[in-house]
Amino acid sequence: MVSRVIPVDDFDLVIFGSTGDLARRKILPGLFRRFLSGQMPEGSRIIGAARSDIDADGYREMIRDAIAEFGGAEKRNKKALDAFLGQIEYVSIDALGDGGWQALAKLVRKDVIGAFYFSVAPSLFGALAERLQSHKIADANSRIVVEKPFGRDLGSAKELNATLAMHFDECQIYRIDHYLGKETVQNLMAVRFGNMLFEPLWNNHYVDHIQITVAETVGVGGRGGYYDKSGAMRDMVQNHLMQLLCLIAMEAPHQFDADAVRDEKLKVIRALQPLDPHHLVRGQYDAGPKTASYREDAENPRSHTESFIAMKAHIANWRWAGVPFYLRTGKRLKAQTSEIVVVFKDLGHSIFEGDEKRHRNILTIQLQPNEGMTLQVTIKEPGPGGMRLIDVPLDMTFADALGPDAEDVPDAYERLIMDVIRGNQTLFMRGDEVEAAWAWTDPIIEGWQARNDVPKHYDTGSAGPEDAMMLMHRDGRKWRELKG
Ligand code: BG6
Repeated sequence: MVSRVIPVDDFDLVIFGSTGDLARRKILPGLFRRFLSGQMPEGSRIIGAARSDIDADGYREMIRDAIAEFGGAEKRNKKALDAFLGQIEYVSIDALGDGGWQALAKLVRKDVIGAFYFSVAPSLFGALAERLQSHKIADANSRIVVEKPFGRDLGSAKELNATLAMHFDECQIYRIDHYLGKETVQNLMAVRFGNMLFEPLWNNHYVDHIQITVAETVGVGGRGGYYDKSGAMRDMVQNHLMQLLCLIAMEAPHQFDADAVRDEKLKVIRALQPLDPHHLVRGQYDAGPKTASYREDAENPRSHTESFIAMKAHIANWRWAGVPFYLRTGKRLKAQTSEIVVVFKDLGHSIFEGDEKRHRNILTIQLQPNEGMTLQVTIKEPGPGGMRLIDVPLDMTFADALGPDAEDVPDAYERLIMDVIRGNQTLFMRGDEVEAAWAWTDPIIEGWQARNDVPKHYDTGSAGPEDAMMLMHRDGRKWRELKG
């Protein structure tokens, strides 16, 4: 298989917050990899903009260090790195004042694509958007990229949307959810809508329930300040898990274009039923043998913020009525894994005498790590002794099936930034989608706040609190075991 790199036109990409953590860890190393793949034409530039009072050379050195620390094997390509750094500029800027804006206006060209990445706190989005317009740096062809958290509830998300809308059209605004940039997350759409096999069974006649798990082994140490005000619901469920739920549950868009896909996702979010408080479990991790407890990590001994959440949600539409969607995510769990499990219904009647076991087809889509799919099927146990049935996995690990090409895929940020340059919004959240997600999430959070809900403790390295197991057991079901 030949990897196909779609060429892009010349661009000026301005990164606000360009000395920050996200820029150093993800954006800049990712851009270097795109450079190596030939997606950063010679006439393109990256312009760092931040408060730090350094010059362009100082910024280039910072990038060199960031790539040495966070880059992959490509960082050894010194010659290419020098060429890449030759396309970097820097402006020291005051987001809330006037400093640096004229210098930026001089640097940004009007005859190439202009993209502005707001890798800063959301409280600065409005000021940046306003100044880009008042200094005539942006025009009708410019794009702005904003990061999560996009608001912390419906009210603040609406406010942010309204502020951005004062300066930019919706078709210029790219709201990043990096889960949508992951190769396997996009593969969900390919699997669902590119195969005859699954779609006829993808509904409440054949599906018993669906599980979505995003489990992490890391804690919140280092970002405790942010996380304690957010918790798993705001940090993971309202965005990443919601997007996975949409992709697994949505109707087929009439074509694969930005608004057709986003219209269908929006319908799923709007069809989510209000969550029954009995179908919700919140947890907080205890200290492990060598790791701190959540409360120590968050430096808040009385914190009631959840580092784990599990829930049973329902989608009220013809396709999914009656099918539970079990969602869970948490930190300091037993394994690092993201997966979607579609459990099909029992056969209903077995023709095989003496076969009392429940046989079920189970489709497991492993998003990370070891991307792949497994379909559990029932076959005859080999050998004599009559018709004894066993369940075996039909296993397809993408790395085995696709060979080296499976490794050579751009990471989420690389892909998404290139989509911004190409002007493709399919993998970005539209304003109404984000608001609908908050509209569903807000009453859940308000509910637990009103009940003074205290998260259940769970052991570091476990599968979360016991109550999360009970959520399934009560329904006669069980979570798939957490395995990396
Ligand atoms: C981020 C969350 O959006 O996603 C983090 O803020 C989380 O808390 C991260 O760890 C998970 O992303 P990934 O790509 O490592 O699965």
